Amino acid sequence: MPDTPALHSRILGTGAYAPERVLTNFDLEKMVDTSDAWIRERTGIRERRIARDDETTSDMAHVAARRALEMAGLTPADLDMIIVGTVSPDMPMPACAAFLQRKLGVTDIPAFDVSAACAGFLYALAIGDQFIRTGQHRHVLVVGAELLSRMLDWEDRTTCVLFGDGAGAAVLGRSVGDGGRVLSTRLYTDSSLADSLCIRAGGSKERITPEALAEKRDKVFMNGRDIFKVAVRNLTSASASALVDARLSPAEVRWVVPHQANMRIITQVAQRLEIPLERFVLNIDRFGNTSSASIPIALDEAVRDGRIRPGDTVLMCALGGGVSWASALVRM
Ligand code: ACO
Repeated sequence: MPDTPALHSRILGTGAYAPERVLTNFDLEKMVDTSDAWIRERTGIRERRIARDDETTSDMAHVAARRALEMAGLTPADLDMIIVGTVSPDMPMPACAAFLQRKLGVTDIPAFDVSAACAGFLYALAIGDQFIRTGQHRHVLVVGAELLSRMLDWEDRTTCVLFGDGAGAAVLGRSVGDGGRVLSTRLYTDSSLADSLCIRAGGSKERITPEALAEKRDKVFMNGRDIFKVAVRNLTSASASALVDARLSPAEVRWVVPHQANMRIITQVAQRLEIPLERFVLNIDRFGNTSSASIPIALDEAVRDGRIRPGDTVLMCALGGGVSWASALVRM
């Protein structure tokens, strides 16, 4: 019997959506004790997008998904699975992916969320890749979508200046011949810093009481310094592992699409990987940290403006609450 060739997945299309409303650092100066200079120097962010009151996470995911499907030349009926990386779903239950499925007008295919904070898109990509590699599915929609503006304490300058809303998506399909393929995915979690980036009330551990609301314990809490240190270390090691998996050197990576959390983190990762910053896709200045949406938004921008071309090797890496982090290496 001839050997069956190994199955691989590839990215067939990308799409993104960011709300229209722009909130600049100068706007934030009027809301909290901060300055445009501090935010730009410490993070690289100039402005971020904020969803309309009537917009939901699945609304944003829907637009990004339609755009990715269009690029892939597919329709929602072609999908076998929908995975949404998000920590800000429309409701605690059911999954944001269920609402996305409804908006796409399909039914009877699995649709579920993955909770890995800023690493959510890469977790979704890794899971989708596995389902295609086993031969069980042909087309998997993977999405990163976050509406964190509703989960922020807008009086806490240590968090509210960092985040923005948005969604990004990719359609995975089977890789054929020598075309593009997902070369490596790596997923990790280290819970020792689980309390350093979290939303304390609203789950089974702590109810939303009047006291919890008064103390804003239902909003994002972050010890930025703790996260910063592990971010540089872990993003570098996960990226290096992906390169080892694919037997590639840093010089062979055409583009790096990093999670856009902080320009200083990205710069240090670039130095440690010895990949020049010119080969990084950066949009943190315009979108801030959109958590799981940040990588697919940046990826889609670079695909659509022609920076990322077929055949390019693209390295992605992200870290967020958990702390959970991940890397993925793909040939487009
Ligand atoms: N404006 C002005 N001053 C500020 C602001 C602000 N917006 N925020 C903090 N400061 C002050 C602090 O109060 C502190 O003042 P003090 O020295 O008088 O106490 C000073 O600036 C320095 O604060 P640090 O926290 O040390 O500032 P740092 O340089 O570490 O920058 C930041 C903070 C941007 C949060 C950084 O630590 C960071 O990016 N951390 C990692 C974030 C991240 O990657 N998160 C993971 C993804 S998010 C997710 O998963 C949902």
